[in-house]
Amino acid sequence: MSYPLPGRRLSICFVTTILLLVINVVTVFQNITKFSRRTHSITIMDSSVFKERATSNYSKFQFSSKSQQLQINGISPPAKTNKFVYNERSDSNAFLLKNNQSKLPVRVAFFEGFRGDNWIFDRYFKPFTSEVRCACSQDRDDVVIKQMVSKRYEIKSFDIVVFPYDVTVLRGDKLFWARLHEIREQERPHQKWIYATRESPFKLRRTIIPRPFTKKSFHWSLTYRTISDFPSPYGYYQLYETQPNRTRTKNWAMGKSGLIAWMSSNNHTSWYRQNFVGRLNDLTKIDIYGKNGVQCGRSSEECESKIKTYKFYLALENSCCKEYISEKFWRTLTWNCVPIVVGPSKEDYKRMAPPHSFIHADDYDSMEDLVDFVHKVDANDTLYNTFFQWKDTGYVVNSFPDAGSDTKNVPDEPPDQLFYSCAKVCAMAKKYRLEKNKASLDESLSYFDPGSHGWDGSCHDCGTKSWIKKFQKDN
Ligand SMILES: *[C@@H]1O[C@H](CO)[C@@H](O)[C@H](O)[C@H]1NC(C)=O
Ligand SMILES: *[C@@H]1O[C@H](CO)[C@@H](O)[C@H](O)[C@H]1NC(C)=O
Ligand SMILES: *[C@@H]1O[C@H](CO)[C@@H](O)[C@H](O)[C@H]1NC(C)=O
Ligand SMILES: *[C@@H]1O[C@H](CO)[C@@H](O)[C@H](O)[C@H]1NC(C)=O
Ligand SMILES: *[C@@H]1O[C@H](CO)[C@@H](O)[C@H](O)[C@H]1NC(C)=O
Repeated sequence: MSYPLPGRRLSICFVTTILLLVINVVTVFQNITKFSRRTHSITIMDSSVFKERATSNYSKFQFSSKSQQLQINGISPPAKTNKFVYNERSDSNAFLLKNNQSKLPVRVAFFEGFRGDNWIFDRYFKPFTSEVRCACSQDRDDVVIKQMVSKRYEIKSFDIVVFPYDVTVLRGDKLFWARLHEIREQERPHQKWIYATRESPFKLRRTIIPRPFTKKSFHWSLTYRTISDFPSPYGYYQLYETQPNRTRTKNWAMGKSGLIAWMSSNNHTSWYRQNFVGRLNDLTKIDIYGKNGVQCGRSSEECESKIKTYKFYLALENSCCKEYISEKFWRTLTWNCVPIVVGPSKEDYKRMAPPHSFIHADDYDSMEDLVDFVHKVDANDTLYNTFFQWKDTGYVVNSFPDAGSDTKNVPDEPPDQLFYSCAKVCAMAKKYRLEKNKASLDESLSYFDPGSHGWDGSCHDCGTKSWIKKFQKDN
């Protein structure tokens, strides 16, 4: 790609040419001694490389198709120049080379498999274009992202390849993965692969790649887990920077005519969720919306406005996995209903959710106890309002774009907090640059293993109490 100063091999004449060029290029040239061999400030590279960089649309560099020459700030180099000198300390530089890669755009691909359905890319990034540029910082520290469908050889032109395992099931055959590995090893040894998903391991069991490759494919992970390289929870609680004065004491029970709502979606659950709701419905009144109940679309405003009139909402996860608190929960909070939860442990909720914002089923010794408590809260507005005290000190950020009317129009440049966003891609690029700089010192690599205990083994019983365990399926 680029070459270090070849020193003696350069002819005197060539060096002179280079120096002339440098003077042309560098607008403020203050310290001639910096152009010694020992500094990293000069890079020489082939014109073909320069051309490639220049045509990737950086302002100081233009490739003139007329003269077939690269121009820098509109100035053409001397004729027949096939090497370019570049002073990376000049502020006229648009990118740095060789010894400081930090300003080269990082190229990221979203490998969206074989369904011909670029779901993630289109949903989160600008639809209908094949390339998106994320400006990561003001000094052009940016990233080019691209969607990639099934052409595996394309991976060689990227620094990072993201494999989103959300709806796409990547082909599991060994040959495919072997070839992918081969390309990486031969063409892009620094390339990083990222295992990305919003789902819990329960939903992903059948998408794990073939055994020889599970432990050496993905360098990093992008999941809802806090231990992930790019932690991407479905939502989070953000404290206000300055605590507002508590002026109003709103009664959150006002105008709520319903008791408990539930919106059913999928029957594919790790536990007998449907039976749980059925039994609960024997003890108290549950109004069911969605496919198996009162018809309304899962993300429709119609559904949402109805559910908002309930005091409680059953935020029951499809599986009970460590830290898997999905949009069901965060949505309930933004709807101003109190979530009744079954999912990860109470400790996880306490750590991640707003304080005293939910009713955790596993806190009760029986379903009857749970229902008694809900009735008690229903009958006492003061008690009900304690579940909203967190709103005095902070707010909820919902990262799930499919949820409800507030995310109907996903903007071209998705907000930072979304699960897949420019902010996330920029974080990937930052890590990539850091590790690439370290790579020469430390070649030891660690991988994220989707079959590992820490991920695949992070799902557990839906409670510690025996009455909840009865709803567990034997896996
Ligand atoms: C790419 O170059 C074109 C033409 O010079 C310019 O209009 C455009 O703003 C550039 N885009 C970026 C992202 O720099
Ligand atoms: C590379 O560039 C970045 C940003 O301009 C700077 O912070 C860093 O110190 C540079 N690294 C080297 C090795 O010159
Ligand atoms: C909050 O209360 C303090 C003390 O009563 C007062 O000085 C301040 O102006 C109040 N802030 C707002 C935003 O009302
Ligand atoms: C889910 O299960 C319920 C109860 O067993 C059943 O009535 C319903 O048809 C199922 N829905 C789907 C989509 O399979
Ligand atoms: C209602 O709840 C509040 C707060 O827990 C409690 O202090 C109060 O005694 C309750 N009122 C009744 C009538 O139970």
